[in-house]
Amino acid sequence: MDAFELLKADHQKVAELFELLETASGKRKLDVFRRIKNELELHTHIEEAIFYPALEKPEPTHDLTLEAYEEHNVVKDLLAELSEASSANDEWQAKAKVLRENVEHHVKEEENELFDKADDVLTEEEIEALGERMAAEKARKLGQAPPKKASAGTNRKDKPKPGLISKIAEFVGLGNRADEKAAKKTAAKKTSSKKTSKQPAPSGAKKAAKSSGSKKQVRGSSKKQKATGSSRAAKKPKAGSRRKASKK
Ligand SMILES: [Fe+2]
Repeated sequence: MDAFELLKADHQKVAELFELLETASGKRKLDVFRRIKNELELHTHIEEAIFYPALEKPEPTHDLTLEAYEEHNVVKDLLAELSEASSANDEWQAKAKVLRENVEHHVKEEENELFDKADDVLTEEEIEALGERMAAEKARKLGQAPPKKASAGTNRKDKPKPGLISKIAEFVGLGNRADEKAAKKTAAKKTSSKKTSKQPAPSGAKKAAKSSGSKKQVRGSSKKQKATGSSRAAKKPKAGSRRKASKK
């Protein structure tokens, strides 16, 4: 099973539940929230236990992975606060909105940046193995039977053969994803072998660019902040500021 596809399917499911949360009212809102909470807890668990550890060491995915842990912490804090409520009042709904924004930001960063880099640092076999392990862990947590090994069509190696469009694209020189990946890796190898001395990029530059973006409230544990630097964690608004938002 493709690890990326598994995680993207989780993301999609949560996105649909957030849509449902918007339209639900009264007690139903809290029921939908509980489903979101269960999904997010399971999702963050498999990522932290299986997916992220595989990406922590490689340099291209190191920073993004540590950042992802921090974003999970923010989401967990918000889930805990929202769980305490007995009714979905205005303040609760404002907090739920902040939760959704944080989750959407996290998903966007994962799918647009982390997965892309992870695809470069992991082999096809590793991506498959991580997917299998995450699916098995999900099943275990849910008390379900372990999933069967990937069937035809779900395995990256068993992806359907290129259709007419892909063949034309290949013919006109656009290539396919596997070719692009192979070419990218070859080019990277050539470049690195040409280098006579290593000149590490300024560590602050990437972070500065990131922190100037649209990222929303991120608060991390002091342990993680020590490891990742203070620039990573934009702060989650204090209770007062979120309360303000609810009064709008
Ligand atoms: Fe995540």
